[in-house]
Order: sequence, then C-alpha cells, then structure tokens
Amino acid sequence: MALLKIARLGHPVLLGRAAEVEDATAPEIQRLIADMAETMVDAGGIGIAAPQVHVPLRLFLFRSGPGAPSVLINPEIEAIGDEADTAWEGCLSIPGLRGAVPRASRVRFTGLDETGARIEGEAEGMAARVIQHENDHLDGVLYLSRMPDMALLGFTEELARREKEPE
Ligand code: NI
Repeated sequence: MALLKIARLGHPVLLGRAAEVEDATAPEIQRLIADMAETMVDAGGIGIAAPQVHVPLRLFLFRSGPGAPSVLINPEIEAIGDEADTAWEGCLSIPGLRGAVPRASRVRFTGLDETGARIEGEAEGMAARVIQHENDHLDGVLYLSRMPDMALLGFTEELARREKEPE
C-alpha cells in the first residue's frame, strides 16, 4: 500500500466528470481502493473520491461508522424526500476550511462494491452527507459551489474558536 498525493483546489482533475470503472475487480482498482483507504485515514478524512488522488474514475470510499470504510463504484445517488439539513463540511482537497452546506437528509444509493457485486442501500445523517459530498467529486463539483451563504465559510480553527453554528 502507498499514500497517494491529494489534489487540491485549483487542480483541474477536481473539476471534470470522472469515467465509469469498467472492471471493479481489476488489480489496479483493488490497489487503488487500498491506497485510497490508507490515504484517507492518514489525512484524517471520512471520505475520499478517486479524482482527489488524480484518478478520474467513478469510485469513492466513505466511513459511516467504526471499521473499514465502505466502497462505492459507479454509484447512483438519489434523495429520498425533500428534507434537507445544513451542517459543516470539510474536504481533503480544501484543507483547513469548513463551510455550511445543505444536503438531502436521506439518500438511496446503488453501485458496485469492491468485489464487483451490486449493492444498494439507504443512508441518513452524516453518512448521507458524506455520500453526497463524495459523489459530487465524481461530477467535478466541490462543496463550495453547494453553499448558499459564503459568510458560512471559514478556517476550521477560527470556527472552532467561535463555536459558530451554521444555522
Ligand atoms: Ni471532498
């Protein structure tokens, strides 16, 4: 396994539409997943998308609890209902900053897991938020462009000092 270099805001790989993964079980995809997991943990993230490590493929990892992160390949995401929540988000590609972002409260997802098996499920709360954030990376969308109020963007240290709430 290896730590991968994380693309930061300004790099064009973060702005394009990523391509479908043709063979989820290919050795290079398995290696990519393992390296992304290691990179995510090392960087203190709770999600990471392949374009963030300069690989423009439709694949991301997310953590929804203790244990190994979940893998979603060629995902399709849809909101369940109209309910939305606003909460602070960060991004490994935008280090040091947090912004308040509205997201659907619940989502349904389908895709492939790391064995190539079709999976589907529902998520809510933080897991739903991370899934939407990471899925956006596959379409070249960063959380900044989901923010209705740029006054609610700040350095993590400053926000923590003020214990500012997004709503
Ligand atoms: Ni991100």
